[in-house]
Amino acid sequence: MPEEIMLKLSVFMSPTGAHVGGWRLPEAITDAGFNFDRWPDLMKLLERGKFDMMFLADGNGVNGISDPDLLARNPTLRPVVFEPITFLAALATHTSRIGLVATGTTTFEEPFSIARRFAAVDQISKGRAGWNVVTTSNPDDALNFSRTEHVEHSDRFARAEEFLDVTDGLWSSWDEDAFVQDKENGIFLDSSKVHMLNHEGEHFQVRGPLNAAHTPQGRPVIVVAGGSPEARNLAARTADVLFTLTETKEAALDLYKDVKERVAGYGRAPEALKVMPGASIFVGETADEAEEVYRKLQELIPDTVGVATLSRIMAQDLSMHDPCDPMPEITTETKGMTFFRDKVSAMAKKEGLSIRETYRRVLPARGHVLMKGSAADVADQIEDWYRSGACDGFNLVASHLPGGLEKIVQHLVPELQRRGLFREEYEGTTLREHLETPYAAFPARRSDVDQ
Ligand SMILES: Cc1cc2nc3c(=O)[nH]c(=O)nc-3n(C[C@H](O)[C@H](O)[C@H](O)COP(=O)(O)O)c2cc1C
Repeated sequence: MPEEIMLKLSVFMSPTGAHVGGWRLPEAITDAGFNFDRWPDLMKLLERGKFDMMFLADGNGVNGISDPDLLARNPTLRPVVFEPITFLAALATHTSRIGLVATGTTTFEEPFSIARRFAAVDQISKGRAGWNVVTTSNPDDALNFSRTEHVEHSDRFARAEEFLDVTDGLWSSWDEDAFVQDKENGIFLDSSKVHMLNHEGEHFQVRGPLNAAHTPQGRPVIVVAGGSPEARNLAARTADVLFTLTETKEAALDLYKDVKERVAGYGRAPEALKVMPGASIFVGETADEAEEVYRKLQELIPDTVGVATLSRIMAQDLSMHDPCDPMPEITTETKGMTFFRDKVSAMAKKEGLSIRETYRRVLPARGHVLMKGSAADVADQIEDWYRSGACDGFNLVASHLPGGLEKIVQHLVPELQRRGLFREEYEGTTLREHLETPYAAFPARRSDVDQ
């Protein structure tokens, strides 16, 4: 890993904070999912932190509507959030530097609509748009798109590969200088500078062109979130950033090596894809302060909520067991998120954890690495992962808003700056410039990639 490339930092923004108990802290804001007035201050805070980007996870449905008791008590299931691409456009007008990344699903959307909306955000934000490409983790979202069940994992990723080729083609519809606007001669556009797509594939038939001008970044930054071989291959070919879930440095080192090899296999420079694991940050002025906040947050998860939330993650009902019972064998099938579920199951088995111990371990970080302590403690861990080649940066997860984020900006960021790991000022204006991921054409799809 070349030393001159700076640590990359994204912030995972959940309207009620990421910790299940976060919204219940007395000082926490609770209405950011439906009150836009909360956001200008949050965005100022993010730009003060000089982060590369902020990230909005998303689904197309209310997670957990089939379990109303849990939904009533756990807003991290996202019962109410702004439609993220619309929301990015609004946030763009309140910011000038930070990258703005929203999730869009390739399983239920159409490439033309996604390409059009992200082109608009890239133009409105002057080159700060990013698309987190997902294939949808919540199987129930299928019920909102005229289907009775979720699409199989491998079919979702086959569609995603083709989807990205189509959106990429659409973003190249017009040359940069196509819209000449020549009043004197009455020529608005140069029709020799349009490129028809005429895509005929297994999943999509799209003629094009896109009714949007060439965007400032050429293509919005592409983020892929996932851990399976299919997700790694998709990221290796198309993405600028891979969001991953790795709880230990060893797992992150393995994943990093594997993914960079896949990137090289597509003929891309390894640094073209930034690998950014999620990190749940509990930082304070002192380690004791961080510990105290963490303890308070954990106390705000009642057993019923903990067990029911873990049941959702594992796609298996655990409510008939006593929380003190050992974590049972997971026997159900799921078409949702497989990678994390398997890891939790293996961890519980290896360490002989009870159901309560498992949810108390899993919920504060949800598969991200948990970093807790003083700014120096957390920065030590970040520096260690980064310098060992376990990642190119992190997707920082704050437990509650605004306090969890304020602590990161007040304490952690200055410590990383002091160590020369992170920027003190934005150097560029576009998200591609922050990430040091210049535009390049996608390599062709390969059917023979090693899974
Ligand atoms: C860090 C991370 C973030 C994700 N964010 C989302 C999200 O916001 N919305 C969504 O539907 N799926 C999300 N996913 C799920 C993936 O898109 C994918 O559908 C699912 O994880 C299955 O792929 P996998 O087996 O590779 O994990 C995320 C996955 C990871 C690892």
